[in-house]
Amino acid sequence: MNIVLGVGGGIAAYKSAELVRLLIERGHGVQVVMTAGAQEFVRPLTFAALTGRKVVTSLFSTNSESTLSSAIEHIGVAQENDLLVVSPATADLLAKFANGLADDFLTTMYLAFTGPVVLAPAMNSNMWLHAATQSNLETLRRRGHRIVDPEEGQLACGMVGPGRLAAPEQIAMAVDAEIGRRRDLDGETVLITAGPTQEPLDPVRYISNRSSGKMGYALAEAAAARGAKVVLISGPVHLAPPRGCTFIAVHTAREMRDRVFENLQPASVIVKAAAVADFHLSKVPSQKMKKTAARLSLELDPTPDILAELGRKKGDRLLVGFAAETENLQQETRRKLEAKNCDMVVGNLVGGEGGAFESDQNEVLLALRSGEFIAVPRASKREVADRIFDEILKLRLHIYATNGR
Ligand code: PMT
Repeated sequence: MNIVLGVGGGIAAYKSAELVRLLIERGHGVQVVMTAGAQEFVRPLTFAALTGRKVVTSLFSTNSESTLSSAIEHIGVAQENDLLVVSPATADLLAKFANGLADDFLTTMYLAFTGPVVLAPAMNSNMWLHAATQSNLETLRRRGHRIVDPEEGQLACGMVGPGRLAAPEQIAMAVDAEIGRRRDLDGETVLITAGPTQEPLDPVRYISNRSSGKMGYALAEAAAARGAKVVLISGPVHLAPPRGCTFIAVHTAREMRDRVFENLQPASVIVKAAAVADFHLSKVPSQKMKKTAARLSLELDPTPDILAELGRKKGDRLLVGFAAETENLQQETRRKLEAKNCDMVVGNLVGGEGGAFESDQNEVLLALRSGEFIAVPRASKREVADRIFDEILKLRLHIYATNGR
């Protein structure tokens, strides 16, 4: 595998020499890119000697013969390499990556790079714990990047606390894990629903719910990052569609149902994370309702139960439903598994403090047809999404083994 190692400007830059050795030992080709800050701590010659390659040190050629090819070298490096690891990733680099700033070779190349990214941060404890750094890290985690958390200990600045670069062996293991996990959904087409539906009451009002789409979008990001073709059918949310997904926007449960069945044929896995409204007004008035009486009663009809219909028509596809509950999580999750003929139901608590709606984190209970329950502890929605796909893959292997498919 061809790996780009980005070296940031921190005292821990020298430890990346050991990381280069570990990556080369594993048979990878390593191209080192150093920021200007990194060159204050370690000379490019060290990395050139270890990798046998010229180290990239700036966006533009420093000699007078700048050519077009030197000006677009960052695109070439982005295209030729399979994985980007940044060690040490400084607070400044994390902020630039999170916000898409591109003012040197490494940050520009990052924007042009479409493969997996491993970030090993190192900095002073207060900088690490600062809300700005933590929020940038959350953005980068949601984007699917693997973060190798720094260790606690004595720092170069004299403080004791979190911020010391993880051991090179640990960073190399994170690279191994990223490579191993990357393509395990290759060949699968995953159909995911996300977000709320909006059921109109008149031209200006609707019934909806608190779903932000974060759980469904995290699932779409995780599946795409692991090599699946992803079709994401989403109700109205304030999130950008994840890179590499086919994106279909809907408003109502009826539209969601129709788009799901139009896109069902190639799907091998279906994950229904959307919070679909259960009721709607069948005959929506064409004009705004007037406030003519003290009370208003609305008679609502059920929306199509997309999950139940999928359960009847899924064939040999793997069907994963969700259960959003305010009580009796285990019981309700199992009931929905049976009632909707799912292969797995992901139960989560909603409504109270720390509930699943709108939060960046979730804690779920997976109910399987074997009768087993698997508790996934509280983690970022992206990490929970990866745990869900880990279990989906185990189910897939189990089905192959029992049916010989
Ligand atoms: O979007 P977030 O803010 O990140 O929040 C995430 C979440 C709480 C929305 C998500 O984790 C979740 O639980 N999604 C399912 C919400 C829901 O509608 O649950 P339910 O128990 O009411 O429905 C059970 C299942 O039936 C769900 O898979 C749902 O998509 C499906 N359903 C429901 C009604 C309907 N008419 N058609 C359906 O297909």
